[in-house]
Amino acid sequence: MLPTPNVSCDYDKVYEPSEDTFLLLDALEKDQSFLNGFLSSKVNVVCEIGCGSGIVTTFMMQNYIPSKYAIYIPTDVSPWAMESMVDTAGRNECDQRILSPVRMNLARSMRSQQIDLLVFNPPYVPAETVPELPQETEAPGNEVSGINGDWLDLALLGGDDGMVVTWQLLHSLHEFLAPNGVAYILFCARNKPLDVVKFMQLQGWKCELVKHRKAGWEVLSIYKFYR
Ligand SMILES: C[S@@+](CC[C@H](N)C(=O)[O-])C[C@H]1O[C@@H](n2cnc3c(N)ncnc32)[C@H](O)[C@@H]1O
Repeated sequence: MLPTPNVSCDYDKVYEPSEDTFLLLDALEKDQSFLNGFLSSKVNVVCEIGCGSGIVTTFMMQNYIPSKYAIYIPTDVSPWAMESMVDTAGRNECDQRILSPVRMNLARSMRSQQIDLLVFNPPYVPAETVPELPQETEAPGNEVSGINGDWLDLALLGGDDGMVVTWQLLHSLHEFLAPNGVAYILFCARNKPLDVVKFMQLQGWKCELVKHRKAGWEVLSIYKFYR
């Protein structure tokens, strides 16, 4: 079993690693050899969307997923996630030269079709709406301050069927992923993942269930999508 990174964050601001996080780590561990063979030997671009505490990207860095030759560009909308990502990677003695966290919506600021391995544990809980981004004011020196609102809601609540943010990603997957890239995405049963699979297959994607697990009254699953 691969080691799990040591994480210490302020969980009033950043999503605390939970059952979904650990299922994602297990799925990546299970597919380590697949990824090593599937992705070519060039330097791979790895993008975890919504990195939160940074545990998933740190796990990949620590364990050479997908390979020794990779650069990691984790993203999140939350400034606290960016801070935690760097802290977690440092705490686990990862090589920061191959880490470049960038605050953005999904992977929208990345060049088109550059991501070889994309990973996303999205806000997947069904809710009336996806919360607005909390208000921020910028202090001199560009330090983020005066942040109101609840970044944790943004980590959890996924609007209709819990799928609003995930659909934004799925509809743009062809723009984000390199032609031979692969995406690992987490779903709960209420997201209706089998309907998602049918839709994505019609768009020409291969979709495979990598791992699933009952977590309390929720069933969580990780699917991979590739061409
Ligand atoms: C369920 S948490 C997962 C955190 C971490 N990856 C983990 O597995 O523990 C979802 C994360 O996605 C981020 N997020 C929500 N909407 C996003 C968006 N549109 N673009 C980027 N990140 C987003 C949240 O801030 C939160 O950190």
